[in-house]
Amino acid sequence: MSEPHKTRLAILISGRGSNMQTFIKACAQGSLDAEVGIVISNNPNAAGLQVAAQAGIPTRCINHREYVGREEFDAALVAELARHEVDLVILAGFMRILTPVFIAPFAGKLLNIHPSLLPKYPGLHTHQRALDAGDPEAGVTVHYVTQELDGGPPIIQARVPVHDDDTAETLAARVIELEHVIYPLAADWQLQGRLKLTAMGATLDSSQQQGSQLDHEIAAMAAQRKNLEQLGIAGFNPENEIILQQVLVQKPKVGG
Ligand code: GRF
Repeated sequence: MSEPHKTRLAILISGRGSNMQTFIKACAQGSLDAEVGIVISNNPNAAGLQVAAQAGIPTRCINHREYVGREEFDAALVAELARHEVDLVILAGFMRILTPVFIAPFAGKLLNIHPSLLPKYPGLHTHQRALDAGDPEAGVTVHYVTQELDGGPPIIQARVPVHDDDTAETLAARVIELEHVIYPLAADWQLQGRLKLTAMGATLDSSQQQGSQLDHEIAAMAAQRKNLEQLGIAGFNPENEIILQQVLVQKPKVGG
């Protein structure tokens, strides 16, 4: 029998990998009780691949262009993840539409971060779409991945105000700072077994008695402050930039 290993993450990227870096840092610092077992990119030129390699993380490029279809590509991903005995898959700017071949084996163990206040703006160009619509606020959502594109049950969301002079770029720069806070927080809940994908959505601490259920929103904000300190995020100004961190974790329904 093989030794039980530390909980192992896979991080899938297509680009620069700033969220990936946050996870690598959180694991190294111990604020996440896990190790990054493998970083995979579909894009051979993803800058994040080099960053991961420099941090001593195994990397692999699985170029989707070398596969005849989405299912074949997904099967190659699944095989690679199995090889690394991965416990949780973190999609971090992974720009591929996934099929059931990939999603089914990792149901409930597959997280994504999407830069909008879902259900608004699934898909691309989210910040520009928020600006075009004249939205007063924008943000980001961590959610479980299901078959529906950017439509799986939300876990946690962070919001920022839209300023009059915002461009898609300035908005993205403020939102990404919050991405680096809420994504490891959601992963931490998952690793602790507190967060679950259920038929009624994402639940936090659902096994607790009704009377002792924590107030999700307050708990999340407290945990987030802790995370901020642990992660040492530079230049973060909660008073200035954050309207609200809203936890969308659903409380279990009473009596079914
Ligand atoms: C982030 O905005 C994330 O929300 C989206 O893709 C972007 C990835 O950025 N899914 P990075 O590569 O983590 O810097």
